[in-house]
Amino acid sequence: MSSQTAADPTAEIVERSRRVLPGGSFGNMPAEVVLREGKGGRIWDEAGREYVDFLLGSGPMFVGHAHPEVTAAVQAQVPLGTTFFSNNRHGVALAEAICDAVPCAEQVRFVCSGTEADLYAMRAARAFRKRDKILKFEGGYHGMSDYALMSMAPKRPGNFPRAIPDSAGIPKSVADEMLVAAFNDIEMVESLIEEQKDELAGVIVEPFQRLIPPQPGFLQALRAITAKHGIPLIFDEVVTGFRFAYGGAQEYYGVTPDLCTLGKIVGGGFALAAIAGRADIMRHFDRLAVEDEDFLFQVGTLSGNPVAAVAGLATLDVLRQPGTYEGVFATGRELMAALDRILKQAGLPAQVIGEPPLFDVVFTDQPIRDYRDTLRGDKALLGRFNQALRARGIMKGESKYYVSIAHTRADIDHTIDAWSEAVKVLKD
Ligand SMILES: Cc1ncc(COP(=O)(O)O)c(C=O)c1O
Repeated sequence: MSSQTAADPTAEIVERSRRVLPGGSFGNMPAEVVLREGKGGRIWDEAGREYVDFLLGSGPMFVGHAHPEVTAAVQAQVPLGTTFFSNNRHGVALAEAICDAVPCAEQVRFVCSGTEADLYAMRAARAFRKRDKILKFEGGYHGMSDYALMSMAPKRPGNFPRAIPDSAGIPKSVADEMLVAAFNDIEMVESLIEEQKDELAGVIVEPFQRLIPPQPGFLQALRAITAKHGIPLIFDEVVTGFRFAYGGAQEYYGVTPDLCTLGKIVGGGFALAAIAGRADIMRHFDRLAVEDEDFLFQVGTLSGNPVAAVAGLATLDVLRQPGTYEGVFATGRELMAALDRILKQAGLPAQVIGEPPLFDVVFTDQPIRDYRDTLRGDKALLGRFNQALRARGIMKGESKYYVSIAHTRADIDHTIDAWSEAVKVLKD
Protein backbone atom coordinates (compact mmCIF):
# COMPACT_ATOMS: atom_id res chain seq x y z
CA MET A 1 0.00 0.00 0.00
CA SER A 2 2.91 2.39 0.38
CA SER A 3 4.86 1.72 -2.78
CA GLN A 4 6.51 4.82 -4.19
CA THR A 5 6.74 5.41 -7.93
CA ALA A 6 10.10 6.22 -9.51
CA ALA A 7 9.33 9.83 -10.36
CA ASP A 8 7.93 11.44 -7.23
CA PRO A 9 6.90 15.03 -8.01
CA THR A 10 5.92 15.81 -4.41
CA ALA A 11 9.06 17.71 -3.39
CA GLU A 12 8.86 19.90 -6.48
CA ILE A 13 5.16 20.66 -5.94
CA VAL A 14 5.82 21.48 -2.29
CA GLU A 15 8.61 23.86 -3.26
CA ARG A 16 6.40 25.59 -5.83
CA SER A 17 3.53 25.81 -3.37
CA ARG A 18 5.77 27.52 -0.80
CA ARG A 19 6.48 30.28 -3.29
CA VAL A 20 2.90 31.11 -4.19
CA LEU A 21 0.77 30.04 -1.21
CA PRO A 22 1.05 31.52 2.28
CA GLY A 23 2.37 28.71 4.45
CA GLY A 24 2.69 26.70 1.26
CA SER A 25 -0.87 25.47 1.55
CA PHE A 26 -4.53 26.11 0.85
CA GLY A 27 -4.94 26.53 4.61
CA ASN A 28 -6.36 23.07 5.21
CA MET A 29 -3.82 20.25 5.29
CA PRO A 30 -0.01 20.56 5.56
CA ALA A 31 1.83 21.46 2.34
CA GLU A 32 3.46 18.02 2.21
CA VAL A 33 0.14 16.26 1.71
CA VAL A 34 -0.36 16.48 -2.05
CA LEU A 35 -3.25 14.29 -3.13
CA ARG A 36 -3.71 13.16 -6.69
CA GLU A 37 -6.67 10.90 -6.96
CA GLY A 38 -9.51 9.20 -5.13
CA LYS A 39 -11.71 6.19 -5.78
CA GLY A 40 -14.26 4.83 -3.32
CA GLY A 41 -12.78 4.86 0.18
CA ARG A 42 -9.16 5.17 -1.01
CA ILE A 43 -6.92 8.01 -2.15
CA TRP A 44 -3.48 8.28 -3.70
CA ASP A 45 -0.91 11.01 -3.24
CA GLU A 46 1.44 12.40 -5.89
CA ALA A 47 4.09 9.90 -4.85
CA GLY A 48 1.68 7.11 -5.72
CA ARG A 49 1.13 6.09 -2.09
CA GLU A 50 -2.29 4.63 -1.41
CA TYR A 51 -4.32 5.38 1.70
CA VAL A 52 -7.58 4.34 3.27
CA ASP A 53 -9.25 7.73 3.28
CA PHE A 54 -10.91 8.97 6.46
CA LEU A 55 -10.43 12.60 5.44
CA LEU A 56 -13.07 12.31 2.69
CA GLY A 57 -12.33 15.83 1.51
CA SER A 58 -13.23 16.99 5.04
CA GLY A 59 -16.52 15.18 4.85
CA PRO A 60 -18.32 15.67 1.52
CA MET A 61 -17.25 12.34 -0.03
CA PHE A 62 -19.53 10.25 2.19
CA VAL A 63 -20.49 8.00 -0.76
CA GLY A 64 -16.83 7.61 -1.73
CA HIS A 65 -14.65 9.36 -4.29
CA ALA A 66 -15.73 9.29 -7.94
CA HIS A 67 -18.92 7.39 -7.21
CA PRO A 68 -20.11 6.11 -10.61
CA GLU A 69 -23.61 7.58 -10.28
CA VAL A 70 -22.36 10.98 -9.17
CA THR A 71 -19.70 11.00 -11.89
CA ALA A 72 -22.25 10.09 -14.57
CA ALA A 73 -24.65 12.84 -13.42
CA VAL A 74 -21.90 15.46 -13.52
CA GLN A 75 -20.57 14.26 -16.88
CA ALA A 76 -24.06 14.48 -18.35
CA GLN A 77 -24.51 18.06 -17.13
CA VAL A 78 -21.13 19.60 -17.96
CA PRO A 79 -21.64 19.74 -21.76
CA LEU A 80 -25.03 21.38 -21.18
CA GLY A 81 -23.58 24.30 -19.27
CA THR A 82 -22.11 24.59 -15.82
CA THR A 83 -23.62 27.72 -14.31
CA PHE A 84 -26.44 30.09 -15.23
CA PHE A 85 -27.08 32.47 -12.30
CA SER A 86 -30.73 31.55 -12.60
CA ASN A 87 -33.13 28.89 -11.44
CA ASN A 88 -32.56 25.57 -13.12
CA ARG A 89 -34.55 22.37 -12.82
CA HIS A 90 -31.80 20.47 -10.97
CA GLY A 91 -31.41 23.08 -8.26
CA VAL A 92 -35.16 23.16 -7.79
CA ALA A 93 -35.22 19.34 -7.55
CA LEU A 94 -32.44 19.44 -4.95
CA ALA A 95 -34.37 21.99 -2.88
CA GLU A 96 -37.40 19.66 -3.03
CA ALA A 97 -35.25 16.70 -1.96
CA ILE A 98 -33.96 18.70 1.01
CA CYS A 99 -37.50 19.67 2.03
CA ASP A 100 -38.55 16.00 1.78
CA ALA A 101 -35.60 14.80 3.84
CA VAL A 102 -34.91 17.36 6.55
CA PRO A 103 -37.57 17.82 9.26
CA CYS A 104 -37.19 21.61 9.70
CA ALA A 105 -36.89 22.38 5.98
CA GLU A 106 -39.92 24.12 4.46
CA GLN A 107 -37.82 26.30 2.17
CA VAL A 108 -34.22 26.39 1.03
CA ARG A 109 -31.70 29.05 -0.08
CA PHE A 110 -28.52 27.84 -1.79
CA VAL A 111 -25.05 29.27 -1.24
CA CYS A 112 -21.59 27.84 -1.94
CA SER A 113 -20.04 27.07 1.44
CA GLY A 114 -20.92 26.20 5.01
CA THR A 115 -19.39 29.50 6.09
CA GLU A 116 -21.89 31.43 4.00
CA ALA A 117 -24.81 29.24 5.06
CA ASP A 118 -24.08 29.87 8.74
CA LEU A 119 -23.53 33.58 8.18
CA TYR A 120 -26.91 33.92 6.44
CA ALA A 121 -28.72 31.68 8.93
CA MET A 122 -27.60 33.99 11.73
CA ARG A 123 -28.60 37.00 9.63
CA ALA A 124 -32.02 35.48 8.94
CA ALA A 125 -32.56 34.98 12.67
CA ARG A 126 -31.67 38.65 13.23
CA ALA A 127 -33.99 39.80 10.46
CA PHE A 128 -36.83 37.71 11.88
CA ARG A 129 -36.36 38.68 15.52
CA LYS A 130 -35.30 42.27 14.86
CA ARG A 131 -32.58 41.85 17.45
CA ASP A 132 -28.79 41.50 17.16
CA LYS A 133 -27.26 39.01 19.55
CA ILE A 134 -26.53 35.40 18.72
CA LEU A 135 -25.76 32.76 21.32
CA LYS A 136 -23.23 30.11 20.32
CA PHE A 137 -21.35 27.42 22.18
CA GLU A 138 -17.68 27.48 23.06
CA GLY A 139 -15.80 25.23 20.65
CA GLY A 140 -18.68 25.22 18.17
CA TYR A 141 -17.53 25.64 14.57
CA HIS A 142 -19.74 27.60 12.20
CA GLY A 143 -17.33 28.55 9.46
CA MET A 144 -15.09 31.55 9.11
CA SER A 145 -17.27 34.66 9.44
CA ASP A 146 -16.42 37.27 12.07
CA TYR A 147 -19.32 36.05 14.21
CA ALA A 148 -18.55 32.35 13.85
CA LEU A 149 -14.92 32.88 14.82
CA MET A 150 -15.92 33.93 18.32
CA SER A 151 -14.83 31.38 20.94
CA MET A 152 -14.47 28.68 18.34
CA ALA A 153 -11.16 27.41 19.71
CA PRO A 154 -9.93 29.79 22.41
CA LYS A 155 -6.50 28.84 23.74
CA ARG A 156 -7.29 30.52 27.04
CA PRO A 157 -11.05 30.36 27.53
CA GLY A 158 -12.50 33.33 29.37
CA ASN A 159 -15.57 33.85 31.51
CA PHE A 160 -18.92 32.87 30.03
CA PRO A 161 -20.75 34.43 28.23
CA ARG A 162 -17.96 36.72 26.98
CA ALA A 163 -16.93 35.93 23.40
CA ILE A 164 -13.24 35.75 22.47
CA PRO A 165 -12.08 36.22 18.85
CA ASP A 166 -10.10 33.35 17.35
CA SER A 167 -8.58 35.33 14.52
CA ALA A 168 -6.81 38.53 13.75
CA GLY A 169 -8.76 41.02 11.68
CA ILE A 170 -12.10 40.80 13.46
CA PRO A 171 -13.54 44.13 14.63
CA LYS A 172 -13.62 44.37 18.43
CA SER A 173 -17.31 45.28 18.35
CA VAL A 174 -18.25 41.80 17.08
CA ALA A 175 -17.55 40.32 20.52
CA ASP A 176 -20.42 42.42 21.90
CA GLU A 177 -22.87 40.83 19.49
CA MET A 178 -22.17 37.25 20.51
CA LEU A 179 -22.85 35.33 23.70
CA VAL A 180 -21.05 32.10 24.51
CA ALA A 181 -22.16 29.16 26.62
CA ALA A 182 -20.76 25.72 27.41
CA PHE A 183 -22.06 22.87 25.25
CA ASN A 184 -24.12 20.34 27.20
CA ASP A 185 -24.60 22.74 30.14
CA ILE A 186 -28.32 23.31 30.00
CA GLU A 187 -28.49 25.20 33.32
CA MET A 188 -26.03 27.76 31.98
CA VAL A 189 -27.90 28.10 28.68
CA GLU A 190 -31.28 28.39 30.31
CA SER A 191 -30.20 31.11 32.70
CA LEU A 192 -28.40 33.00 29.91
CA ILE A 193 -31.43 32.87 27.64
CA GLU A 194 -33.79 33.93 30.43
CA GLU A 195 -31.50 36.86 31.21
CA GLN A 196 -30.83 37.91 27.58
CA LYS A 197 -34.09 36.91 25.87
CA ASP A 198 -35.00 40.46 24.93
CA GLU A 199 -31.71 40.96 23.11
CA LEU A 200 -31.31 37.55 21.54
CA ALA A 201 -31.88 37.05 17.82
CA GLY A 202 -31.04 33.36 17.75
CA VAL A 203 -29.10 30.41 19.07
CA ILE A 204 -26.73 28.47 16.82
CA VAL A 205 -25.42 25.04 17.77
CA GLU A 206 -23.73 22.06 16.23
CA PRO A 207 -26.11 19.37 17.50
CA PHE A 208 -23.04 17.12 17.63
CA GLN A 209 -20.28 19.55 18.54
CA ARG A 210 -17.13 18.60 16.61
CA LEU A 211 -16.83 15.11 18.18
CA ILE A 212 -18.97 15.58 21.28
CA PRO A 213 -22.44 14.05 21.25
CA PRO A 214 -25.18 15.94 23.05
CA GLN A 215 -25.96 14.63 26.53
CA PRO A 216 -29.42 13.06 26.72
CA GLY A 217 -31.96 15.86 27.05
CA PHE A 218 -29.60 18.73 26.13
CA LEU A 219 -30.97 19.44 22.65
CA GLN A 220 -34.54 18.90 23.86
CA ALA A 221 -34.05 21.45 26.66
CA LEU A 222 -32.43 23.90 24.24
CA ARG A 223 -35.39 23.45 21.90
CA ALA A 224 -37.86 24.03 24.74
CA ILE A 225 -36.26 27.21 26.11
CA THR A 226 -35.79 28.80 22.67
CA ALA A 227 -39.36 27.91 21.65
CA LYS A 228 -40.69 29.35 24.90
CA HIS A 229 -39.28 32.76 23.99
CA GLY A 230 -39.77 32.56 20.21
CA ILE A 231 -36.01 32.64 19.60
CA PRO A 232 -34.97 30.83 16.40
CA LEU A 233 -32.83 27.76 17.03
CA ILE A 234 -30.31 27.06 14.27
CA PHE A 235 -28.73 23.63 13.91
CA ASP A 236 -25.46 23.75 12.02
CA GLU A 237 -25.79 20.50 10.08
CA VAL A 238 -22.97 21.18 7.64
CA VAL A 239 -21.25 18.05 8.99
CA THR A 240 -24.19 15.99 10.28
CA GLY A 241 -26.68 16.64 7.45
CA PHE A 242 -27.36 13.43 5.46
CA ARG A 243 -24.60 11.77 7.52
CA PHE A 244 -26.13 10.82 10.88
CA ALA A 245 -29.38 9.94 9.12
CA TYR A 246 -31.00 10.92 5.82
CA GLY A 247 -32.72 13.69 7.76
CA GLY A 248 -29.50 14.65 9.57
CA ALA A 249 -28.85 15.09 13.27
CA GLN A 250 -32.35 16.51 13.75
CA GLU A 251 -33.75 13.16 12.69
CA TYR A 252 -31.06 11.17 14.53
CA TYR A 253 -31.47 12.98 17.85
CA GLY A 254 -35.18 13.67 17.38
CA VAL A 255 -35.12 17.45 17.86
CA THR A 256 -36.33 19.84 15.14
CA PRO A 257 -34.78 23.33 14.99
CA ASP A 258 -36.26 26.38 13.25
CA LEU A 259 -33.42 26.69 10.74
CA CYS A 260 -30.52 24.51 9.75
CA THR A 261 -27.50 24.81 7.55
CA LEU A 262 -26.32 22.09 5.20
CA GLY A 263 -23.07 21.66 3.30
CA LYS A 264 -20.51 18.99 2.49
CA ILE A 265 -22.58 15.88 1.51
CA VAL A 266 -25.47 17.84 -0.02
CA GLY A 267 -23.18 19.25 -2.73
CA GLY A 268 -21.85 15.83 -3.74
CA GLY A 269 -18.26 17.12 -3.67
CA PHE A 270 -19.01 20.45 -5.36
CA ALA A 271 -19.40 23.95 -3.97
CA LEU A 272 -22.95 23.97 -2.68
CA ALA A 273 -24.43 24.60 0.75
CA ALA A 274 -27.84 25.66 1.98
CA ILE A 275 -29.89 27.41 4.60
CA ALA A 276 -33.16 25.59 5.20
CA GLY A 277 -36.01 26.07 7.61
CA ARG A 278 -39.34 27.54 8.57
CA ALA A 279 -41.05 29.41 5.74
CA ASP A 280 -41.91 32.37 7.98
CA ILE A 281 -38.20 32.92 8.66
CA MET A 282 -37.04 32.07 5.13
CA ARG A 283 -39.46 34.66 3.71
CA HIS A 284 -36.96 37.34 4.73
CA PHE A 285 -35.00 36.25 1.64
CA ASP A 286 -38.04 37.21 -0.50
CA ARG A 287 -38.08 40.88 -1.43
CA LEU A 288 -41.80 40.83 -2.19
CA ALA A 289 -42.88 39.01 0.96
CA VAL A 290 -41.56 41.45 3.56
CA GLU A 291 -41.24 45.16 4.16
CA ASP A 292 -38.14 46.79 2.68
CA GLU A 293 -36.38 47.05 6.04
CA ASP A 294 -37.00 43.34 6.75
CA PHE A 295 -35.59 42.11 3.47
CA LEU A 296 -32.39 40.05 3.71
CA PHE A 297 -30.43 40.77 0.57
CA GLN A 298 -28.66 37.64 -0.66
CA VAL A 299 -27.22 36.75 -4.07
CA GLY A 300 -24.31 34.52 -5.09
CA THR A 301 -22.71 33.94 -8.49
CA LEU A 302 -22.65 30.14 -8.32
CA SER A 303 -25.67 29.58 -6.06
CA GLY A 304 -27.60 26.44 -7.03
CA ASN A 305 -25.48 25.85 -10.12
CA PRO A 306 -26.59 22.76 -12.03
CA VAL A 307 -23.34 20.80 -11.73
CA ALA A 308 -23.35 20.91 -7.94
CA ALA A 309 -27.10 20.30 -7.95
CA VAL A 310 -26.91 17.12 -10.04
CA ALA A 311 -23.98 15.89 -7.94
CA GLY A 312 -26.03 16.50 -4.79
CA LEU A 313 -29.12 14.82 -6.25
CA ALA A 314 -27.13 11.76 -7.35
CA THR A 315 -25.53 11.55 -3.91
CA LEU A 316 -28.93 11.65 -2.21
CA ASP A 317 -30.16 8.93 -4.61
CA VAL A 318 -27.31 6.73 -3.46
CA LEU A 319 -28.04 7.47 0.19
CA ARG A 320 -31.71 6.51 -0.20
CA GLN A 321 -30.79 2.94 -1.17
CA PRO A 322 -31.99 0.52 1.50
CA GLY A 323 -29.36 -0.42 4.08
CA THR A 324 -27.02 2.51 3.39
CA TYR A 325 -27.07 4.00 6.88
CA GLU A 326 -27.14 0.58 8.57
CA GLY A 327 -23.97 -0.23 6.61
CA VAL A 328 -22.03 2.91 7.45
CA PHE A 329 -23.06 2.70 11.11
CA ALA A 330 -21.92 -0.96 11.24
CA THR A 331 -18.54 0.03 9.76
CA GLY A 332 -18.18 2.93 12.19
CA ARG A 333 -19.20 0.86 15.19
CA GLU A 334 -16.69 -1.84 14.35
CA LEU A 335 -13.92 0.71 13.87
CA MET A 336 -14.70 2.57 17.08
CA ALA A 337 -14.77 -0.65 19.10
CA ALA A 338 -11.51 -1.88 17.57
CA LEU A 339 -9.71 1.42 18.21
CA ASP A 340 -10.97 1.50 21.78
CA ARG A 341 -9.76 -2.07 22.34
CA ILE A 342 -6.32 -1.39 20.85
CA LEU A 343 -5.81 1.74 22.97
CA LYS A 344 -6.96 -0.05 26.13
CA GLN A 345 -4.66 -2.99 25.47
CA ALA A 346 -1.81 -0.52 25.04
CA GLY A 347 -2.64 0.91 28.46
CA LEU A 348 -2.91 4.46 27.13
CA PRO A 349 -5.18 7.01 28.83
CA ALA A 350 -7.50 7.52 25.90
CA GLN A 351 -11.09 7.30 24.77
CA VAL A 352 -12.86 7.06 21.44
CA ILE A 353 -15.64 9.64 21.18
CA GLY A 354 -18.20 10.53 18.52
CA GLU A 355 -20.87 8.68 16.61
CA PRO A 356 -20.21 5.80 14.19
CA PRO A 357 -20.02 7.94 11.00
CA LEU A 358 -17.61 10.41 12.67
CA PHE A 359 -15.28 9.77 15.59
CA ASP A 360 -11.72 10.04 16.87
CA VAL A 361 -9.57 9.29 19.86
CA VAL A 362 -8.93 11.85 22.58
CA PHE A 363 -5.91 11.08 24.71
CA THR A 364 -7.38 11.60 28.17
CA ASP A 365 -9.41 9.35 30.43
CA GLN A 366 -11.41 12.29 31.83
CA PRO A 367 -15.01 12.57 30.62
CA ILE A 368 -15.64 14.89 27.64
CA ARG A 369 -18.83 16.93 27.66
CA ASP A 370 -17.68 20.28 26.32
CA TYR A 371 -14.85 22.20 24.65
CA ARG A 372 -12.87 22.77 27.85
CA ASP A 373 -12.82 19.02 28.52
CA THR A 374 -11.24 18.48 25.10
CA LEU A 375 -8.31 20.72 26.09
CA ARG A 376 -7.24 17.96 28.50
CA GLY A 377 -6.53 15.68 25.53
CA ASP A 378 -2.84 15.19 24.71
CA LYS A 379 -2.66 16.87 21.28
CA ALA A 380 1.03 16.05 20.76
CA LEU A 381 0.31 12.34 21.25
CA LEU A 382 -2.60 12.53 18.81
CA GLY A 383 -0.32 14.24 16.30
CA ARG A 384 2.26 11.43 16.64
CA PHE A 385 -0.46 8.81 16.26
CA ASN A 386 -1.81 10.50 13.12
CA GLN A 387 1.68 10.72 11.67
CA ALA A 388 2.40 7.05 12.39
CA LEU A 389 -0.90 6.16 10.77
CA ARG A 390 -0.19 8.20 7.66
CA ALA A 391 3.06 6.29 7.25
CA ARG A 392 0.94 3.12 7.40
CA GLY A 393 -1.56 4.13 4.70
CA ILE A 394 -4.26 5.88 6.74
CA MET A 395 -5.26 9.43 5.75
CA LYS A 396 -7.28 11.51 8.18
CA GLY A 397 -7.64 15.07 9.38
CA GLU A 398 -6.17 16.33 12.63
CA SER A 399 -9.04 15.16 14.77
CA LYS A 400 -11.65 13.26 12.81
CA TYR A 401 -12.28 9.92 11.17
CA TYR A 402 -15.01 10.40 8.58
CA VAL A 403 -16.45 7.00 7.64
CA SER A 404 -17.66 6.43 4.07
CA ILE A 405 -20.33 4.09 2.79
CA ALA A 406 -17.60 2.98 0.35
CA HIS A 407 -15.24 1.67 3.03
CA THR A 408 -14.82 -2.06 2.49
CA ARG A 409 -13.90 -5.06 4.61
CA ALA A 410 -10.34 -4.71 3.34
CA ASP A 411 -10.28 -1.02 4.36
CA ILE A 412 -11.49 -1.88 7.87
CA ASP A 413 -8.95 -4.68 8.25
CA HIS A 414 -6.11 -2.51 6.97
CA THR A 415 -7.11 0.27 9.38
CA ILE A 416 -7.23 -2.03 12.38
CA ASP A 417 -3.81 -3.47 11.51
CA ALA A 418 -2.41 0.07 11.11
CA TRP A 419 -3.80 1.09 14.51
CA SER A 420 -2.23 -1.97 16.15
CA GLU A 421 1.16 -1.10 14.66
CA ALA A 422 0.99 2.67 15.13
CA VAL A 423 0.06 2.42 18.78
CA LYS A 424 3.43 0.74 19.42
CA VAL A 425 5.18 3.92 18.26
CA LEU A 426 3.38 5.88 20.97
CA LYS A 427 4.87 3.70 23.68
CA ASP A 428 8.47 4.39 22.63
C1 LIG B 1 -20.05 22.38 11.55
C2 LIG B 1 -19.45 23.17 10.42
N1 LIG B 1 -20.05 24.32 10.05
C3 LIG B 1 -19.56 25.07 9.05
C4 LIG B 1 -18.44 24.69 8.35
C5 LIG B 1 -17.90 25.57 7.25
O1 LIG B 1 -18.10 24.98 6.03
P1 LIG B 1 -17.21 25.43 4.76
O2 LIG B 1 -15.84 24.89 5.01
O3 LIG B 1 -17.92 24.82 3.60
O4 LIG B 1 -17.24 26.92 4.74
C6 LIG B 1 -17.79 23.51 8.69
C7 LIG B 1 -16.59 23.08 7.95
O5 LIG B 1 -15.96 22.10 8.26
C8 LIG B 1 -18.30 22.74 9.76
O6 LIG B 1 -17.67 21.62 10.16
